[in-house]
Amino acid sequence: MTGNVATGSGDAMMTDDAQWWRRAVVYQVYPRSFADSNGDGIGDLAGITSRVGYLRDLGVDAVWLSPFYPSALADGGYDVDDHRDVDRTLGTLDDVDDLVTALHDVGIRLVIDVVPNHTSDRHAWFREALADQPGSAARERYVFRDGTGADGSRPPSDWQSLFGGPAWTRVPDGQWYLHLFAPQQPDLDWSNHEVRDDFRRTLRFWADRGVDGFRVDVAHGLAKDLTEPFTPASDLPDPMLADGSHPYWDRDEVHDIYAEWRHLFNEYDPPRSAVAEASVHHTRRPRYASPDGLGQAFNFDLLAARWDPDDLRDAISTNVAQSTATGASLTWVLSNHDSVRHATRYGLPQDGDHDVGQEWLLSNGTTPALDRDLGRRRARAAVLLLLALPGSAYLYQGEELGLHEVGDLPRHVLQDPLATQSGGAQKGRDGCRVPLPWTREGPSLGFGDAPPHLPQPDWFVDASVAVQAADPHSTLRLYRDAIRCRRTLGDTDEMQWHDSTPDVLHFVRSGGWQAIANLGSTPIPVPDGTIVLTSAPLLDSLLPPDTAAWIIPNGS
Ligand code: BGC
Repeated sequence: MTGNVATGSGDAMMTDDAQWWRRAVVYQVYPRSFADSNGDGIGDLAGITSRVGYLRDLGVDAVWLSPFYPSALADGGYDVDDHRDVDRTLGTLDDVDDLVTALHDVGIRLVIDVVPNHTSDRHAWFREALADQPGSAARERYVFRDGTGADGSRPPSDWQSLFGGPAWTRVPDGQWYLHLFAPQQPDLDWSNHEVRDDFRRTLRFWADRGVDGFRVDVAHGLAKDLTEPFTPASDLPDPMLADGSHPYWDRDEVHDIYAEWRHLFNEYDPPRSAVAEASVHHTRRPRYASPDGLGQAFNFDLLAARWDPDDLRDAISTNVAQSTATGASLTWVLSNHDSVRHATRYGLPQDGDHDVGQEWLLSNGTTPALDRDLGRRRARAAVLLLLALPGSAYLYQGEELGLHEVGDLPRHVLQDPLATQSGGAQKGRDGCRVPLPWTREGPSLGFGDAPPHLPQPDWFVDASVAVQAADPHSTLRLYRDAIRCRRTLGDTDEMQWHDSTPDVLHFVRSGGWQAIANLGSTPIPVPDGTIVLTSAPLLDSLLPPDTAAWIIPNGS
């Protein structure tokens, strides 16, 4: 028995199902690093359109596009100059239309990232605010305040930005503005009706162009209680334990905004979908996923879990129980553009001292040893677990190639504010954003005709699509097989754990489809039935360590 044996077939088909997103496989594209059609070293929309066949063959239901709006790239495009346009290096509005058409033609939906918490500092509104007086209507779209201290030269509060450094920046006339992220990302004031109205225009603008859904960036940050005096940073509640009392994370009023959006989404047929990126306690997540709100919310619990049976079982059980209790749809994520790739996380020591690879992000010499083969082997097993779970699966470009994080990017090429703002103390998130390798040759391994905007390491050659498409045991082929099988197997949300040994994760879905993963150190027997997929070859008919399998009842 070798890995990747698949049964069944079933091409992607875009149905009229209004609830398609509840069981979808969604593939995240980071546009600048997917495919470069015009040879400038930067991926673009026409590049993505040229690779729609690849996405079709992978079998995904939807593509989620990270921001492609005009941007100075202070934060990888999450600093948006104009929400209703396309960055010229990435294309034009016509290119968006072409991409929508090309995806829809092969049955794939398009979800786009929207960034409502902040604009960039180059946005027309922010320029207007700077040119206008303190207290003006233009400033009220953002959060401007006077400073503290006798001459106002100290920030209004000691709040820190998520990228490090103060969350307030002073402007020439002495006022300060709030930015929870980089200084180039001023926060909008969502109690301002102009802000709310304009964002609804943005949502309609894209929905009218045929975009099927929205990924809502920092969805838990829009509503803020900015009454003074501000709570000192040391007295702020832990945002992950918040009960709605934090001044800027996860406040209850944020759901009024999403109720308005839901109303708008439901005017379309089918209703537009939305998924919240909300880093909140799991008990507060269902409110974002409510049918009266965005409908779905990311669950990052698998992404945060170590390769450890108890951690993984907990992450799965908690979310399944919660979904059963609330009716909220399930979502699963192993990797995205903000985190160390899971093949790398799983290849690091799992001794509890390493916070899901975060330590590996430090460039201060503490880099722990990475076992690349082990990490990739576990990543293959992990995706069989992920794709066997009820709900929707969010995949990040390149994970289907088993890519590792590129951990040794030279400091001078780093673009991420996490790296630049920390003075190089952190490597930041560029290591998971290196352009994809498509072929064995060329200046950017088929990504385009020019050297890529982030350099590709030598080991990308063997990980390339061309190499993997030709190898039936490759990770790419495993993903294709698993996504195709899942389409035929997983048509309900039921799942039951099987009693088994502590190091084994084993569950069954309706119709008798079983997924089993061996996280122990010795091979284990494979349950009775027909094996449809394994993440690595069996060993004397046993399931080896760090391996997963899918089994269906004999004769089915
Ligand atoms: C996005 C990040 C971005 C941040 C600020 C996030 O959660 O995923 O990539 O840096 O929002 O917009």
